[in-house]
Amino acid sequence: MKLLEITGGKKLTGEIKISGAKNSAVALIPAAILSDEEVTIYNVPDITDTEALSEILLYLGADVKREKESMIISSKNLENKKIPNSYAKKLRASYYFMGALLGKYKKVEMSLPGGCSIGARPINLHLKGFEALGAKVTSKNNCYKVEAEELKGAAIYLDFASVGATINIMLAAVRAKGKTIIDNAAKEPEIVNIATLLNNMGAKIRGAGTSSIEIIGVDYLGKCFHEVIPDRIEAGTYVILGAAMGDNLKVSGIIPEHIEALTSKLEEMGVPLEIGPDYIIVSRGDHYKPVHVRTQTYPGFATDLQQPFTPLLTCCDGNSVIEETIYENRFNHIPYLNQMGADIRIKNQTATIIAPTNLVGCDVVATDLRAGAALVIASLMAEGITKITNVEYILRGYEEIVEKLRNVGAKIEIREI
Ligand code: EPU
Repeated sequence: MKLLEITGGKKLTGEIKISGAKNSAVALIPAAILSDEEVTIYNVPDITDTEALSEILLYLGADVKREKESMIISSKNLENKKIPNSYAKKLRASYYFMGALLGKYKKVEMSLPGGCSIGARPINLHLKGFEALGAKVTSKNNCYKVEAEELKGAAIYLDFASVGATINIMLAAVRAKGKTIIDNAAKEPEIVNIATLLNNMGAKIRGAGTSSIEIIGVDYLGKCFHEVIPDRIEAGTYVILGAAMGDNLKVSGIIPEHIEALTSKLEEMGVPLEIGPDYIIVSRGDHYKPVHVRTQTYPGFATDLQQPFTPLLTCCDGNSVIEETIYENRFNHIPYLNQMGADIRIKNQTATIIAPTNLVGCDVVATDLRAGAALVIASLMAEGITKITNVEYILRGYEEIVEKLRNVGAKIEIREI
């Protein structure tokens, strides 16, 4: 187990360079197996979630090389084996092997995926999509078997614009016969990034990034080189941190349009921001107005940024409100923020942040990835020392977090306990 020890109260200045997007990379890596030729994915973040996927690739017999920021995957000798629970449970995104293996071999067998406990997170929409393409789904002891004699394009309407279901259905449909249309598809930038990889490999996908995606199945997918987009959630996390503790903190290598819902909230609060073509410079302002935030699918305010945003609201001149509409259980960071001196009251899916309050360091636990990010921000804001345990959750999604924060002046140590 790892522990983070953070001494708060220091102004942060300098530059933080953003890594490749976790939620893109974790889909691009399984997508690469759809090709029999070499696929090079550039800007893959070095985080435990991408490591876990490369272990699954190796287990299936793929050849995986890591060269600097690139992952080079060759699936010529892949074997379509059942993916055991010990691999699948390590991360949510292991389920992208369902769509990719189904597309490639018309059959896949694997256990339910793992991931952060932030709600029920069923995969019914993924399975309904596979069924619409002609697959038969059976399950026994949490293990799913999905198989089809032939995958046939279909018109699929998603009851909810699920990121995972949209990507998984695309992965299977690129190798189906004929045309598939996914309506009410998710519009997140990661969807566009995955569709671009598949198109570079020879797929025919149109409309990614809108709510209607059209996929014409092809027989063969080939070699390609592809770049992972910058991580908008990592970028948003550090911009929020800059609003709390920054002194001209530059968050660079980003696509600012991807976090517009966040930056317009910050502007509404009165946060001094300079938004450049691929960077944002942010400083702590004198007085912040309280705000009302409602999480929504893209381009709305990202649920993944709701947790890191919460500690910032403790320094507003008045009470703010956060409504979480995507997950049923994404307030696990709040009891720990309250332990640090915040006054946040939860009622159903709404949190009211009574402010201003001062945060003081104490011992806390990261219950999931973004709850962990929220506690890192709170610790850097707080007076005194905070010790965070369960740091493994944070390392799933933030590349070199300790080094990046130290480089801008944070006092932060990581150690094994
Ligand atoms: N849902 C269903 N049925 C389904 C699929 C989803 O009911 O078959 C529900 C979920 O239970 C949830 C909502 O739909 O309430 C949204 O789920 P979605 O499928 O969009 O999310 P996901 O694909 O499981 C990805 C990211 C999450 C991010 C969400 C929303 C990955 C690996 N994960 O999850 O990222 O919160 O989209 O943007 O891409 C994180 O990075 O911390 C994280 C949790």
